[in-house]
Amino acid sequence: MFLAIPLVSLAAQSAARTAPTPIGAYDVVPELPGMGRPVDIAATAARRRALLQRIGRGAALIPAAHERNIERDYVQDNDFRQDNTFYYFTELETQDAWLLLTARGPDSLETVLFLPPRTPSQERWTGLRLGPDSVAVRLSGITTVLPLDSLDSRLLRIRVAGARGGPVYVPLGPATREERRISDLAFSGGGADVRNLLPIVDSMRVVKDADEIARLRRAVNISVAGHIAAMRVARPGMYEYELEATLEDGFRRNGADRLGYPSIVGSGPNSTTLHYDVNRRRTENGDLVVIDAAAEWGQYTADVTRTFPVNGKFSPRQKAIYDLVLGAQQAAFDAIRPGITMRELDGVARAYMRAHSGTLCGERTCDDREYFNHGLGHPIGMDVHDVGFTRPLEPGMVVTLEPGIYLQAEKLGVRIEDDVLVTAKGGEWLSDAAPRTTEAIERVMSHR
Ligand code: GLY
Ligand code: MN
Ligand code: MN
Repeated sequence: MFLAIPLVSLAAQSAARTAPTPIGAYDVVPELPGMGRPVDIAATAARRRALLQRIGRGAALIPAAHERNIERDYVQDNDFRQDNTFYYFTELETQDAWLLLTARGPDSLETVLFLPPRTPSQERWTGLRLGPDSVAVRLSGITTVLPLDSLDSRLLRIRVAGARGGPVYVPLGPATREERRISDLAFSGGGADVRNLLPIVDSMRVVKDADEIARLRRAVNISVAGHIAAMRVARPGMYEYELEATLEDGFRRNGADRLGYPSIVGSGPNSTTLHYDVNRRRTENGDLVVIDAAAEWGQYTADVTRTFPVNGKFSPRQKAIYDLVLGAQQAAFDAIRPGITMRELDGVARAYMRAHSGTLCGERTCDDREYFNHGLGHPIGMDVHDVGFTRPLEPGMVVTLEPGIYLQAEKLGVRIEDDVLVTAKGGEWLSDAAPRTTEAIERVMSHR
């Protein structure tokens, strides 16, 4: 089944003319060639209307992210990633913008997007930017787009109106701590009733809409392609970073925007370290390799782990542990239904392990927290550990199932992590195009 993914093989890399179309081929907005992506105007408008339903009467003020100072922050990858809250309501990747939503009653929502002016001399350095003009209107679907310098007079009116104008919701969190406009409102607002927007938006983000699910599927498919590529090149004696290079090449080659999180490539003893991301060890014949890595696409990230023998063949002992983890994952998947919680699914996976451990983990059973020392999973979305962990599952939520067994004394770790869409009837595997059984993994690795 995994062959349905247009995987970029090594052969295709050296024969670019025959390369299949990348999964994430860049969508282009004609006026912003190679920079902007089309916005799902209907989806973002529906999210803004849903926010209106939640807040009733009042206003919401949401800043975009700013470019980071790469020399000061020493960022890993890219110096701009949009703020999740701003993205949720606009899907714009533009920086330094603001969104002001004003709800005057049940059916009255005014949406204003404020954008800095375009500066041609700066665009010689940065490339094209969105400015307060008709391109922004067309791209965003927001009919009122104003220059950023008109925002402060609007905010002054809100401050003067004070509590009479209704509550003003702003995101109060680490990302906005240094926003002068927000602190002016919150701390010298002249009596404005300032409230935190984040709990409301976070609760809206738990159940994904069709556009979000499409983005997650794409991020997952790109991630799967990278995992398969890494399995295919693996050989004893390779360095972990060589596997990482192939993996991340597979992501980017298929259109990933960036990594969802730093790639974990742990071989041998490192397979038992949950968030090992140094990736410097040389693999040895007989090692298992745990790769926990995923791509972000369109602001949404997958979260996928595969474990495979670097020499392409599981030992009987490795297979026995692997199959126990796989069985626990399947048991949890089979138990997925609307209303169940992640904590309950964790219990299902542990009960399976307990019942089927035999003597595999010695005197204790393998579900012991000494061996399975993390939770079963979590929601994914714009954050890899997304909002909504404690919410009973609902159709439209997307969660990971990632049981593991880590036997440090044997330098043997196994984790299997898949992304699952909750449906009305149960779950849908999103990432099962990455081989999951020992047989499927060995088959892929035999085609090296
Ligand atoms: N990749 C981080 C996690 O699995 O939670
Ligand atoms: Mn995870
Ligand atoms: Mn993971």
